Amino acid sequence: CGIVGVTGRTDTVEILVSGLEKLEYRGYDSAGIYVNNSEKQDHLVKTRGKIADLKRKITSQIKGTTGIGHTRWATNGVPSVENAHPQFSTDNRFYLVHNGVIENYEELKAQYLNNVKFVSQTDTEVVVQLVDYFVVHENMNTKQAFKKTLSLLKGSSYAFLLMDRDQPDTLYVAKNKSPLLIGLGKNFNVVCSDALAMLHVTKNFLELHDGEMVVVTPQTVEITDQAGKKVQREAFHVDLDPKETDRGAYPYYMLKEIDEQPAVLHRIQKAYLENTDKPAISTELLTAMKHADRLYIVGAGTSYHAGLVGKQLFEKLTQIPTEVVVASEFAYADPMLSQRPFFIFLTQSGETADSRQVLVRVNNEWHAPSLTITNVENSTLYREATYQLLLNAGPEIAVASTKAYTAQIAVEAVVAKALGEVKEIEFAQKFDVRRELSLAANGIQSIVDEKDKLKKIAHQDLAKTRNAFYIGRGVDYFVALEAALKLKEISYIQAEGFASGELKHGTIALIEDHTPVIALITQAKTAGHTRSNIQEVKSRGAQVLTIVSEALAKKEDRIVIPTISELLMPLMSVVPAQLLAYYASLERGYDVDQPRNLAKSVTVE
Ligand code: G6P
Repeated sequence: CGIVGVTGRTDTVEILVSGLEKLEYRGYDSAGIYVNNSEKQDHLVKTRGKIADLKRKITSQIKGTTGIGHTRWATNGVPSVENAHPQFSTDNRFYLVHNGVIENYEELKAQYLNNVKFVSQTDTEVVVQLVDYFVVHENMNTKQAFKKTLSLLKGSSYAFLLMDRDQPDTLYVAKNKSPLLIGLGKNFNVVCSDALAMLHVTKNFLELHDGEMVVVTPQTVEITDQAGKKVQREAFHVDLDPKETDRGAYPYYMLKEIDEQPAVLHRIQKAYLENTDKPAISTELLTAMKHADRLYIVGAGTSYHAGLVGKQLFEKLTQIPTEVVVASEFAYADPMLSQRPFFIFLTQSGETADSRQVLVRVNNEWHAPSLTITNVENSTLYREATYQLLLNAGPEIAVASTKAYTAQIAVEAVVAKALGEVKEIEFAQKFDVRRELSLAANGIQSIVDEKDKLKKIAHQDLAKTRNAFYIGRGVDYFVALEAALKLKEISYIQAEGFASGELKHGTIALIEDHTPVIALITQAKTAGHTRSNIQEVKSRGAQVLTIVSEALAKKEDRIVIPTISELLMPLMSVVPAQLLAYYASLERGYDVDQPRNLAKSVTVE
């Protein structure tokens, strides 16, 4: 979910709405705003659906100088107007927006709120009713009631923005595990889940730490920690041009982001490989990694897939055994860690709760060094890791990740090369990462220049199918996983990424006449075997499509891509798969950028 708040602006409604539009990638099943002015004239507008639907409901009478807004990705309670935020207390005095999950809301409801009539199924409504309960029944002021309520939320994650109808210029703010920033203005202040939402009104932000509570008015920002002690903190500056988040002439962000990949690789080269006076990868980081006896790469979704590709890069170039783990699984596992583990977090957003939970254990329980590789400076995982590196991919807005995946692989390659050199590994010394990234950028450019061909293939092979398979071996298998994820995320075709050799041990039973099977062939050692697996599925009626590097191509191959070092072929082979998913989604008439049920940044576990 995404949340925004504003105090001290006559254009509060406009700022809230444009902020929510920028946060829509965090969820878009329902939305709402609550605004008030200094005369206590207030308005609540909520809708099921997207921000465009919300805008249609906001008439010119709806104005205010302070307000809060929310765009939702449903956790507790189906998407509906009742379950949309802001949630409010029965006496219509308190209004609350929330990102996160309250784990003990049922117990709290039973303990305090037996006589309250609830209108929604959300955990959030319990929180706002509780604040009201303490004000009405225990004679507390709003701040005390909010504080007391927060103290009762056990093991929960939240970013809250609370308004009291009777204090129309005050925002009560709290954060635990879910991201939240305060944006500073002149005679106004704002609050948001992501700085992107407010770049059009300020570039100066204050980070908040877990357990902190903040009272915000147009002139003041008062932060207190859990013990009630006042906290002073320096603001940071976000140096991002709001134009970077424009879609330009593209019909969808996803296509823009696919096309940007060559430029992203050039940016990574520039950031990491050109300024040799002041290397971007610090000696401290390399020393810490060199000391490790095992690397653990942690990620979720597409970032996990980029980690799988990274394993080979790290093992080949640094000779340090590398394990890749799914964040949500590892967060509660009892791993037998090596003696000197080093953790690498891959996360586009830097906010994924599953990955963050692992980092919390790394810091508090395992006391091991860590590196976060992320696209978002100052994000939670960026701040909390020992070391941090940026992807330099530019804002990624489409829910289905594309350029962040290739950027993650490129940065892994750059780090692995630097570490391998420090370790004097011959293979690393010979690996010309700079040249390979240039070749990759050119290669991707030639693929995106011929996208019409992929559009045609998507139309012929994928538009009408119910299911599809991507197959490959080794890194080709890892790319198959990502390729299948892309296809299912946005075209809703049931797609599976499979190790080609494993198919015959069971899953081949699913192959029917015309089932699309897309094989990735970019590794010389396994090409022949994958070709045999193709024959097996062909004999059972599959409609086969191959994505093959030029060096290994045969005349029957339909998608031939340029050849670079086999280690970095995933940078190239994933691109046709991204485009196939894009065009399959278009053909089937779906919203490419905002697929159903998904959100780009998932800040709940
Ligand atoms: C969400 C997104 C995925 C993404 C995953 C991890 O589920 O829909 O596209 O790969 O989160 O996100 P991160 O920001 O940690 O890379």
